[in-house]
Amino acid sequence: MTERPEPDDPAGPVLVRTRAELVRARAALPGPVAVVMTMGALHVGHAALVDEARRRAASVLVTVFLNPLQFGEDADLSAYPRTLDADLALLGEHGVELVFAPGVDDVYPGGPPSVTVSAGPLGDVLEGAARPGHFDGVLTVVAKLVGLTRPDVLLFGRKDAQQLLLVTRMVADLDLGVEVVGVPTVRDADGLALSSRNTHLRAEDRGVATTLVTALRAGAAAATGGPGEVRAAALGVLEAQEGLSVDYLALADPATLAEVGHGATGPALLAVAARVGATRLIDNVELVLGGATGGDGTAS
Ligand code: PAF
Repeated sequence: MTERPEPDDPAGPVLVRTRAELVRARAALPGPVAVVMTMGALHVGHAALVDEARRRAASVLVTVFLNPLQFGEDADLSAYPRTLDADLALLGEHGVELVFAPGVDDVYPGGPPSVTVSAGPLGDVLEGAARPGHFDGVLTVVAKLVGLTRPDVLLFGRKDAQQLLLVTRMVADLDLGVEVVGVPTVRDADGLALSSRNTHLRAEDRGVATTLVTALRAGAAAATGGPGEVRAAALGVLEAQEGLSVDYLALADPATLAEVGHGATGPALLAVAARVGATRLIDNVELVLGGATGGDGTAS
């Protein structure tokens, strides 16, 4: 049986839990169908994905699934916020037709899959270096959810730039036949990129956390000077901030994620990961070395 979260709210999305329910409900959706994949704990950034999905398709299907395959430590997985009722309310406000929120046994009925997707070398750097196996888990579940939901369009946020790149590469390399769209990062008024992890920040961490975007903006403002100037400007901001433990600051080729060399010009990705208290945050900005700042969503 399919469920409606608010039986008296005809605008609420249809909620399905199992593969069989999904197949029936998906077949009834007018196409084209856009799919937004999430792990729940939804916020305005997810709403922006849904709104862009709505502009591109006749129906919007959102998946809510906390994928154990992409978490290294059980502690990370168990600490992840679970807010399905609030998620459904937000998705209803944004006109989503169908929500697929399966349990682990529905997605992995035989236990962890023996055949998985390998992210390859692009999955070993930046976030992949800090979280070994993470992107294999992400790509495996994305491939499975593509198979289950059969999207025409798939939308991902640009805040997780490496994830977006890897999904785009997987779709091309494995001929999955779906259009992948990146949606600009949504930021709070103080510039902090929206993330489900922000709920873990203590009030006193907030100012420290905004140092990430301040550093990225300083780097982007130095883009005309070249790679050395970008790195120096961003590092200067990060190093001046107490209470911030920087994991990496990378100025990378957007297609290969290799560090750009001295004197490089053209598009680049300036990405940062850092811990504020117990919370690990990531952010990035697209820029053009020797040219203007790209469309990165960092405008204040
Ligand atoms: O970005 C996320 O929320 C997750 O990595 C995704 C794409 C839903 C896969 O579990």
